[in-house]
Amino acid sequence: MKTTVTDRKKPVKAAKNKPGSAANKAAKKTNARKAKAPVVGPELIDRVMEGFDASAKDIVLPVLRRAQDVFGYIPEEAVLELAKRLKIPPAHLYGVATFYDQFLLKLPGRNIVRLCTNVACNIQGAESLMDYIGGKLGIKRGGTTRDGRFTLLEVECIGACGSGPAMMVNDDFHYELTEKKIDGILSRYR
Ligand code: FES
Repeated sequence: MKTTVTDRKKPVKAAKNKPGSAANKAAKKTNARKAKAPVVGPELIDRVMEGFDASAKDIVLPVLRRAQDVFGYIPEEAVLELAKRLKIPPAHLYGVATFYDQFLLKLPGRNIVRLCTNVACNIQGAESLMDYIGGKLGIKRGGTTRDGRFTLLEVECIGACGSGPAMMVNDDFHYELTEKKIDGILSRYR
């Protein structure tokens, strides 16, 4: 896997944007958001590993969940450090993190929209709603708005199949979605 540093260390270049422009403001917000992200270091890695027996089997998932709680996502540096602690190849840890859509490998926006596109929601129009949300926010699935307000994710069933299409925004569930409903829901999250 790549060993490049995370986005946090690659601030968005605002130099080409005109001062005071919307693009410049958005880039500044993005940089501020990234600057606030926790830095991967021994203390936070200790916090992730607290209470875990590093030699135990089957702790990869709980360790990744804790890492996401601590960092807000799974930074590459954390994958490398945790793999050392667990004495497993980083590729293994990274493979698990990429397999489950609950894990975020990039610093997300303030609000995470998780739209279910599994079968039951799909036959009720989830795909076109995904396009609608993406168009409305100006991002593709998996992307984050430039102002860091929203991240849009496609997820598997969230247990609301009878009331689809369904999505979560952060920890809130929203059911029987329509474009109009989505407009109202998104306007509530700042
Ligand atoms: S298929 Fe969408 S909530 Fe179950």
